[in-house]
Amino acid sequence: MEHGAPGLPIDPLDVLRQRRSAKWQTYPADVLPLTVAEMDVSLAPPVAEVLAEAVRRSDTGYGRAGSDLARAVAKFAAGRWNWDIDSAQVTPVTDVGVGVAETLRALTRPGDVVAISPPVYPPFFDWVPESGARLLEVPLAHDDGGWRLDLAALERAFATHPAAYVLCNPHNPVGRVHTASELAALVRLARLYRVTLVSDEIHGPLVLPGATFTPLLTVPGAAEVAVTVMSASKAWNLAGLKCAAVVTASPQLAAVVDRYPADTKWRFGHFGVLATVAAYTEGESWLDELLITLDQRRTQLAGLLGERLPMVTWHPPEATFLAWLNCSAIGPDDTARSQFLDRGRVALEPGLRYGAIGGGYVRLNFATSAAILDDAVARMATALR
Ligand SMILES: Cc1ncc(COP(=O)(O)O)c(C=O)c1O
Repeated sequence: MEHGAPGLPIDPLDVLRQRRSAKWQTYPADVLPLTVAEMDVSLAPPVAEVLAEAVRRSDTGYGRAGSDLARAVAKFAAGRWNWDIDSAQVTPVTDVGVGVAETLRALTRPGDVVAISPPVYPPFFDWVPESGARLLEVPLAHDDGGWRLDLAALERAFATHPAAYVLCNPHNPVGRVHTASELAALVRLARLYRVTLVSDEIHGPLVLPGATFTPLLTVPGAAEVAVTVMSASKAWNLAGLKCAAVVTASPQLAAVVDRYPADTKWRFGHFGVLATVAAYTEGESWLDELLITLDQRRTQLAGLLGERLPMVTWHPPEATFLAWLNCSAIGPDDTARSQFLDRGRVALEPGLRYGAIGGGYVRLNFATSAAILDDAVARMATALR
């Protein structure tokens, strides 16, 4: 563990490199990966314990996501966000991707249109065609104040009657926490033009100090037009365990979830359910420490960029552990990302993966130790010399 640095413990680099997850296996050993949204923190103790206990008992059979998961989701949402979830309207699924894609498949007919707002998490571009629908891009608005939903453009798009809009709440990669009034305006448009909102709230627990998260289904009038997909997998680092939950709040939308292929509701990981229940019911104080740690890294990154990479501009994220960095002063498209990788040996996500609007950007994952973050920015600066 790293000593002397504030925040949650993080193993040193040589120990992290022994992990066999995607983040640590994609690049050669001399590359520092700040890519895919996995965190370098050690597991929350209640999560580690429940998994270790299951291994000790060889409890590795099929999962049973009965009422335990639904109750844990509802308890966490009520305590954290004052969001009253009916546990009868919580459906387990494999992961958020499956939850969104199956919801779209159940909602749309082949050829229907589904809107998204780039720059956005790359699989959004895949989930829509996977469900048989066509993509409509309604980019976020961007000005000196940051990135936000372009409500005027969304109204124009909704007036053409897409079947659905996939919301990223909070929004990866820009880290925007949509405000209650923005979400109220979105719900008004959805009701007016009869567009179903599918809200990906995987980053909901990762709202950093200074911002307030509004679950879409807490917005008045949302119940009849919105489905939410949530998961503990980002905030407690459980992505490999495969468990997420689809939440509805009205008979109309519950009927959409009922149209999922019957087996979908059983395709989750046993360890995913165990870990998710532990995270939601016993992992909240660890989450609070995590948010303090990420807030420290966000401040550290601001200092490092200002000092060593002043040509890179950004709006510090209000949520997530992801920084969306405008490197267009270095070069267009993926120029900066290639230079950082080839010459600095630091891997970042290329902005173009998040849509054409991402040209000139990179996404940096700062859920790591202070020492690794410092090293990464030093390497990026060296790459430009
Ligand atoms: C917005 C968003 N949705 C979904 C996912 C992936 O979730 P899952 O692995 O549960 O499909 C991510 C992963 O980073 C994400 O950022």
